[in-house]
Amino acid sequence: MSISLQQGAFILAGLLFILALAGLSKHESSKRGNILGSVGMGVALIVTVLATQLGVKSDGVEVSAPLPAWGVAAILVPMGLGAVIGVVRALRVEMTGMPELIALFHSFVGLAAVVVGWVSYLEGQPETGAGLHYGELFIGVFIGAVTFTGSIIAYLKLSAKMKSAPLALPHHNILNLGAIIVFIALTVWFVVLPEDQHIGEGATGLVLLTVMTVVALLLGLHLVAAIGGGDMPVVVSMLNSYSGWAAAAAGFTLNNDLLIITGALVGSSGAYLSYIMCKAMNRSFISVIMGGFGSDGQVVGETKDYGQHRETTAPEVAELLKDAKDVVIAPGYGMAVAQAQGAVADLTAKLRARNINVRFAIHPVAGRLPGHMNVLLAEAKVPYDIVYEMDEINDDFPDVDVVLVIGANDTVNPAALDDPSSPIAGMPVLHVWEAGQVIIFKRSMATGYAGVQNPLFFNQNSAMLFGDAKDRVQDIIQNL
Ligand code: TAP
Repeated sequence: MSISLQQGAFILAGLLFILALAGLSKHESSKRGNILGSVGMGVALIVTVLATQLGVKSDGVEVSAPLPAWGVAAILVPMGLGAVIGVVRALRVEMTGMPELIALFHSFVGLAAVVVGWVSYLEGQPETGAGLHYGELFIGVFIGAVTFTGSIIAYLKLSAKMKSAPLALPHHNILNLGAIIVFIALTVWFVVLPEDQHIGEGATGLVLLTVMTVVALLLGLHLVAAIGGGDMPVVVSMLNSYSGWAAAAAGFTLNNDLLIITGALVGSSGAYLSYIMCKAMNRSFISVIMGGFGSDGQVVGETKDYGQHRETTAPEVAELLKDAKDVVIAPGYGMAVAQAQGAVADLTAKLRARNINVRFAIHPVAGRLPGHMNVLLAEAKVPYDIVYEMDEINDDFPDVDVVLVIGANDTVNPAALDDPSSPIAGMPVLHVWEAGQVIIFKRSMATGYAGVQNPLFFNQNSAMLFGDAKDRVQDIIQNL
């Protein structure tokens, strides 16, 4: 295979990955994005395997020799095995099990980066640019090792195989900082080390790489163990970013442009997603990166007396909806718990059949996963064009007749804006209280994820519809 064919295929795959990311940013185009990404990965895999089988030539000169048949088999057999395991896991996974599965996958990327770095070091250094090579190799192993153990802890916590409460050693921030300082010092030492101290058993270079790998593995454990289970989705997104940077570093070590591009895309998009989530939850991005945040997701706020709440019934809500022209549904975690999305989609269709304008208002961190509500609504076949992001719909609430808050709590809590002492102060929320009537579907007056009471429930224009969200929505449909 000629090198230009290989590079052309890598550019094509890189472009397809960029188009995939662009597609995944909107739900109308997310299926297309997924397909483009899969095709890109297919191209990358086929060209990589062919290159190992045929060898790569530049102007007739061999750049890399073809592998013997057993070498190709050593790639294809584990790849096939991995593909079968991946397909089976993906087909079986529940929507709620996605974060832990993703965490497990990230641990593999981290481990791969560690192995690539180590094998490359043991194989011997390149003749030119050795210092640079050593630097990228050392950094790649560090990020990979942190990602590996961090992701395993995230997986164990998310799958309830380990206590989800934060487990922080005393002075954990100092310990983390100390580990990073040790890493920087070892990197400088490793890069400036004379060539002869890199080679052979017991060589200083090997000792430095071993010490750094152990420090990085322990840092990954400690960083993620210090985070409460409730904050784990942000951490999974952050580890996604780390795994991308680890892959990019492995790309430098292997001299593989596509791995560098793909790693950088995963690293930067993961970092941006973590940033969006932090902003939407009013968390400090820096403290997330440093692993020093989060209790157990349950912040217990002050109990305040907001007065009496009003209760309503499904037939009353049905009457209210019959008279409405403009209805907005604000779904939250409770809709996922009740698996009410199908019933909500039926209600939407019934109301639209009566010429009532129905829209959905989606808060960026509604539920427990990025895009949680969008996925549930798409699964229930709610048309994409009536699903709005918070910023797109927040100014429209004064013109809305009825808002149905289905299992949402923190994401519609006005205390985030009005009460600077609230644990969720500063978190952007949906301004549902500005609508004519607000109906809140939940089972009790219990607090939501942040553990704070919601003054919305006690407003004059609010009414509580108690019970399981799916049952109540079905009751309303029957009364329409
Ligand atoms: P929450 O504030 O968690 O409130 C959900 C509400 O649903 C609860 O108050 C609960 O009240 C109700 N509920 C539970 N099961 C129900 C059922 N079967 N039927 C009816 N209601 C039910 O939800 P939210 O507004 O979606 O906010 C999400 C929260 O999670 C935010 O604080 C966010 O920061 C946090 N978070 C989000 C993410 C992402 S990426 N989305 C990640 C981590 C954390 P009852 O118990 O009274 O029924």
